[in-house]
Amino acid sequence: MKEIDFSNCQRNARTYNGANGSKIGIYYNNENYMLKFPPKPKNNIELSYTNSCISEYVSCKILKTLGLNSQDTILGKYRNKIVVACKDFRKTNEIFADFASLKNTIIENSGGGYNTELSDILETIDNQEQFNIKNSEIKNFFWNMFIADSLLGNFDRHNGNWGFLINEIDNIHMIAPIYDCGSCLYPQADENLMKKILTNKAELEQRIYTYPNSAIKHQNVKINPYHFLLNTDNLDCINALQAITARVDLIKIKEIIENTPYISDLHKEFLFTMIKERKNKILDVAIEKHFSSTKKEEYIKILPLKKRD
Ligand SMILES: Nc1ncnc2c1ncn2[C@@H]1O[C@H](COP(=O)(O)OP(=O)(O)O)[C@@H](O)[C@H]1O
Ligand SMILES: [Mg+2]
Repeated sequence: MKEIDFSNCQRNARTYNGANGSKIGIYYNNENYMLKFPPKPKNNIELSYTNSCISEYVSCKILKTLGLNSQDTILGKYRNKIVVACKDFRKTNEIFADFASLKNTIIENSGGGYNTELSDILETIDNQEQFNIKNSEIKNFFWNMFIADSLLGNFDRHNGNWGFLINEIDNIHMIAPIYDCGSCLYPQADENLMKKILTNKAELEQRIYTYPNSAIKHQNVKINPYHFLLNTDNLDCINALQAITARVDLIKIKEIIENTPYISDLHKEFLFTMIKERKNKILDVAIEKHFSSTKKEEYIKILPLKKRD
């Protein structure tokens, strides 16, 4: 694959917010892109930069294989850094509004736009009148993204990390492509940790069953995808679980990972193993639980969890 160097690309006038590293707007092939630079890791002092650009690139490509609309991404270099270029999804005359700003339009809402309590998110979706998008479409999108994030171990899908595109001139409102997947796929793991996880079952399973948790909360506690998906009785969630799991194609996912530039064979093995394990141990087991009543008792025995409403 030909290496792409963005160092000499012309800057455009666009700027971006977000808390995870620097970003600049550039023109590449006559289109606007946001270049995301790798941030310094918060937890792992062994690693000079996180792998979040790799996570962004790989995850956005995987989302497309699940039939979800995600931003287009390219990996390349900017001076000595590996960066991810995300195609700017705002066309001329389109403005972007994050979900938090939609949540603020619900006057009775007490939590504030960035509060990620699940019931408040669902209430906002049910009651929004701001955008001319069917609420059922937003809800479907939300749960599909929730299942995909569970597959990819995303711990940062807060209300600023998904949103809408508004064309004020033509009065067209749309859900924006999925963006900010830099917190999927264990971006803080360095090669030593990857090795440890791949060779130690307990280390691996801890990263499936215990963390990472979602940024979305249930009764003020961050949702654990495994426990939540096994125990939820939310039918929209269960339908999305079934639809997205059926679309997981491990051969296509392997191909994406194999063709990812800049990363080592160990890193590739780590990414593929974690996705495969998360599919088998979270999504498939949750499907079994919801769709095979004969197995129900067995799972309840394994999982003596509080019943969720
Ligand atoms: N592909 C894109 N096109 C246009 N705007 C984007 C795109 N991706 C992200 N943004 C905007 O830029 C902000 C920062 O990007 P994000 O990927 O969320 O960075 P961070 O990882 O620092 O949170 C987002 O909150 C959103 O407003
Ligand atoms: Mg963000």
